[in-house]
Formats: sequence, structure tokens, C-alpha cells
Amino acid sequence: MLPIQLFDPESSTYTYVLFDENTREALIIDPVDTQIERDLATLRQYGLKLVWAVETHAHADHITSAGQLAELAGARTAAPAGCGITTAAVQLQDGDTLNFGSQHILALATPGHTAGSMSYVWRGTDGQAHVFTGDTLLINGCGRTDFQSGSAEALYHSLTQVLFKLPDETTVWPGHDYQGRTHSTIGQEKAGNARVAGKSQAEFVAIMDGLNLPRPRRIDEAVPANLTSGLRHDAEGALLMQPRPAAGYAGDVSPELAWAWAQSGEAVLVDVRTDAEREWVGFVPGAVALSWKVWPGMALNPEFDDGLRKAVKPGQKTVLLCRSGVRSIAAARRATELGLEAYNILEGFEGDPDGNAHRGQKGGWRYRGLPWRQN
Ligand SMILES: [Fe+2]
Repeated sequence: MLPIQLFDPESSTYTYVLFDENTREALIIDPVDTQIERDLATLRQYGLKLVWAVETHAHADHITSAGQLAELAGARTAAPAGCGITTAAVQLQDGDTLNFGSQHILALATPGHTAGSMSYVWRGTDGQAHVFTGDTLLINGCGRTDFQSGSAEALYHSLTQVLFKLPDETTVWPGHDYQGRTHSTIGQEKAGNARVAGKSQAEFVAIMDGLNLPRPRRIDEAVPANLTSGLRHDAEGALLMQPRPAAGYAGDVSPELAWAWAQSGEAVLVDVRTDAEREWVGFVPGAVALSWKVWPGMALNPEFDDGLRKAVKPGQKTVLLCRSGVRSIAAARRATELGLEAYNILEGFEGDPDGNAHRGQKGGWRYRGLPWRQN
């Protein structure tokens, strides 16, 4: 099984998505902020639940979307401890592993391009080994060492004593390529990499010192942003208005986005609570009332499928609302089975219970100040 390899032409960056075929839990390596829609769509397309957003280092040429993916897709962020990415939830040390389903990646400290740079080894279910090398090892090249705490000596050691010690057949997935090449192997790079193959440390250092590369165009903007996982001050408002991918249905949306879609006619808002709940607690004007479960005994509503088919026009999305966002997930899955593009509204009408088990104070449709009425 291969990783999903995605390319950002602007920065020539490769992003990788790895996943467990059974649990559909996924991990993304080096995501790029301007490609977040593509990446979220990829997760949706494959039915994946993102659990990790991981960096190989603090990049100088693009801004990461790791922080946004944490917000939108529920992933946790991880980064090498030596990179100073203080917002990453997990600070990785050499030898640490990150699990996704029954799969995991192993972190290898490979300093040189930057002092904190890491590579990640993944062994798929078929036993094939892969290594994600960031800017440490590129195809027939390597990352520069002349800024950002780089060291040609450290890079030589990481290449020859860490990466080239991996089995020859290990597939190399680089952080960049500028010539359309997608992957290589450790054996190939060990034998033929123009910078390092057959070179002594002194020769390698002389090559690196003589490169005289221009300063990266976006370094002043990118590095500080990447030290906070790419999150900027305006992020929260923007994040609110994007769906998050989910397993088994089109995604989760904030109450605000659901209302915006319902008002524009882009989506039909379906309230799946019981008639009694709507009566006692309140309802959303204009929402279609279609219970997911009905009394007596809260059995599944036999009218649900037909009611939904009648309520939603071709090409329209469906956004589903319940009390706290549990029944609406089940209903969104069912709606998806019926062929609809169905979204669960996060937090539901009443939100989560607080410390006293009272609802209404922790999120939810009413708490967010969206329109509702009571008879
Ligand atoms: Fe880099």
C-alpha cells in the first residue's frame, strides 16, 4: 500500500496522507495552507478521519495548515521537539512513534537542513518500508544547510549514518521535487545521489558551502507562521465557516455555517428531534421537522427516508440538527446512504452539558445566537 502523494506547485512541496485501511484513521505529513481545501476533499474522498498532522521541520518556503487541520478535521498536531513549533500538541523525540489505527510512523532525528529536522519511517501492512525525508534527503539532492540552524556536517551524518542505514529497498518520499520526480529508494540515493554518494564529509561540506543559493522568498513570513502551526489571528472566523470532513457522511458544520447555507438555499435544514422536544425546548423557523426517532420507545422513524427524499431538492445539501449532535450524526449517515450530501450540525440545538449536566451554556444553536422560536 502506498501513501497518497499530493503536490503544491507554488512551493513544489509534497504532502503525504497515510491511513489505516480498516479504521480509516489517517496521518498527514507537511500539509500546505493554500492546499487545505484539496486536502480536506482528499480526506472526504477516501472516507478518512485525520488523527495526526505532522511536520518534518519548520518550513521556510510555505506555511503549514497543521493548526487549521487540527481545528477543522479534529487532528492532533505533532512536530520535532527541536523545531520550536510550540503549538504542536506532541513534541517528538528520536524514536517516538505516532499511531493511526493499527499503523504507526517512527520518528528519526535527521538534523542538518535544520537542527530539529526529522524523517518518518512507515511500514505498511504489506511490509514495504517507506521513509518521508522532508528536506533532509531529496531525490538526487538534499536540503540546503545555510540558514535556519542548518549544518552540513550534521546533514552528512544524518544522510550516511541514519537514512542510508535503512534497507536499500525502502521507498524515499521527499519533501520537495522541482523536476517532477515522485519517489526514489534508499539504495538508489546511496549509490547515485550527486551531493553525497561516494563523498567524504569534507567533500560534502565543500559542496554545500559552495551552493550560494538565493534566500527563500517567503522565509520571513513562513518561519514565524510555522512556529505556531500556521495559525494566524484571523483563523477562527474563517474556520467556523468551513465544513470538517467526517466518516460516513459529508462532514460536520458549525451552526453558523448551517444557518448560512439554509438561508441561501444551498442546504435544507432538517431538525431530527422529536415533536415533543421542538414543542418544549424550541425550534428553528423554516427548518423541516423530521424525527429520527419517535415515541413510543424512541424507535427509528419509519417515515424518515421518505420524508427526507421529499424535503431535499436535487443538488441541495442537507444539514441535520438534533439536541446535542448525536442523533444528527446517525441521521447524516442514513441520508448519505440515501444518496444525499449530508452534514451534521455540531453541538446541536442545546449544546453540551455543563458541570451540572445543564445544557444551553456550552455551545449549541441557541447559545450561538442563531434564530429560534418557542410556541
Ligand atoms: Fe525546508
